[in-house]
Amino acid sequence: MRIVLIGFGNLGRGLSRALVQKAGFLRRDHGLIPRVVAAVDEFGAVVDEKGLNLAGLLKTAEGKGTVALHRGAKRGRLALQVIEGIEADVVYELTPTNIETGEPGLTHIKRAMQAGRHVITSNKGPLVVAFRELDSLAKRCGVEFRYSASVGGAIPAVGLAKKLLAGNKIREIRGVLNGTTNYILTRMSTEGAPFEIVLREAQELGIAEKDPTLDIEGIDTACKITILANSLLGTNAGLKDVKVAGIARVRPEAIRLAQEAGQTIKLVGTAKRGSLEVGPKLVPLGHPLAVGGTLNAVTFELDLAREISITGFGAGPRETSSSLLGDLIDIHRTLGG
Ligand SMILES: NC(=O)c1ccc[n+]([C@@H]2O[C@H](COP(=O)([O-])OP(=O)(O)OC[C@H]3O[C@@H](n4cnc5c(N)ncnc54)[C@H](OP(=O)(O)O)[C@@H]3O)[C@@H](O)[C@H]2O)c1
Repeated sequence: MRIVLIGFGNLGRGLSRALVQKAGFLRRDHGLIPRVVAAVDEFGAVVDEKGLNLAGLLKTAEGKGTVALHRGAKRGRLALQVIEGIEADVVYELTPTNIETGEPGLTHIKRAMQAGRHVITSNKGPLVVAFRELDSLAKRCGVEFRYSASVGGAIPAVGLAKKLLAGNKIREIRGVLNGTTNYILTRMSTEGAPFEIVLREAQELGIAEKDPTLDIEGIDTACKITILANSLLGTNAGLKDVKVAGIARVRPEAIRLAQEAGQTIKLVGTAKRGSLEVGPKLVPLGHPLAVGGTLNAVTFELDLAREISITGFGAGPRETSSSLLGDLIDIHRTLGG
C-alpha cells in the first residue's frame, strides 16, 4: 500500500515509528506492506516512489525539525502537488486543527479524494466544518474515509460504535474527551486546589497549552462531540449547534460537595438526536466516565446493550498511532486485503 503523509509533526512521526516497528507484524498478520512514498510538512517534501527510509527521515525531522532539510527534499508548500502528483493508495492528513475554516486540511482531504486516494485523518477542523460534504465526497469518489484518531486519541470509539455495536440504536453518547480539562478537574478534586493554580501547574508541566482557551472553554470537547454525533447519529451539526460551557467557574468546594454525595465533576460532552451539549456535569464515582488524570472516556446508551463504555489515552503520538494504524488495516481489509 502506497502511503502519503501530509504533516510530519507529533502524529506523522509517531505513526512512522509504529510503521517501522511493526513492519514484520503487519506483513505476517495482516498481509499489509505499507510503503510511505512521500512525507510533507509546511516547509517541504521528500518523495521516493520506491518507499522512503522512515528511520532516516525520522532522524532528520527530529534533529532538524523539518523534512525539508532531508537529503533530496524539495522546499516549499508542496502538499497539494504531492497529493495530486504522486501515485498513492492512502493519504494521511495530519496537519494542525483549524476549527474556523478547516484549512489547510479541508482542501488536502477534498483533493486527495478527488484524486482517488483513500483518506485517514486525525484533524478535527475539516470534520467539524464539513463532515457531511466530506462523507458524501468520499462516497462519490469511491474512496474510504477514516477519522478514528480525531476523537479520543487511542480510544476506538467510532469503530466500536459503527462496527461492533452496529445492531444497536444509539440513544445518547456521553464523553470525557479532553485530557487537559480532565487533568485540571482531577487535581482540583484530589488537592482541593483552585482552578487558576492547577491550570498554571498544568501549563508548567506541558499538559495545558500556553493559550488553553479551546480546552478550558469546552470548545475542543464540542468539536469531538460534534464529530461523534455527525458520524454516529447521522446529524449535520456544526460547532454553532453545541451549547457549550467550560470549567473555569468550577470551584473546589463544588467538587468537595459532589464527592460527599458519592459523585465527581467532569467536563462531559453529550450528544443525542436534537441536542448537543458540553459542560461540567456530576458523574457518580465509580462510573466509567469518572476517569482520572488525562484519560478520556466515552459511554454509549444503546437500545439493546444498554450501556457500553470505553476509556483510554486521549492523546500522545504513540497512543494515537494505534488509531491511525487501525484505520489503515481497516481500509486494507475493506478492500479485500
Ligand atoms: N498530538 C496528538 O496526540 C493528537 C491526537 C489526536 C488528534 N490530533 C490532531 O492531529 C493533527 C496533527 O497533530 P500533531 O500533534 O501531529 O500536530 P503537529 O505536531 O503540530 O504537526 C503538524 C504537522 O503539519 C505540518 N503542516 C502544517 N501546515 C502544513 C501545510 N500547509 N502543508 C503540509 N504540512 C503542514 C507541520 O509542519 P511544520 O512543522 O513544518 O509546520 C507539522 O509537520 C492535529 O490536527 C491535531 O489536533 C493530535
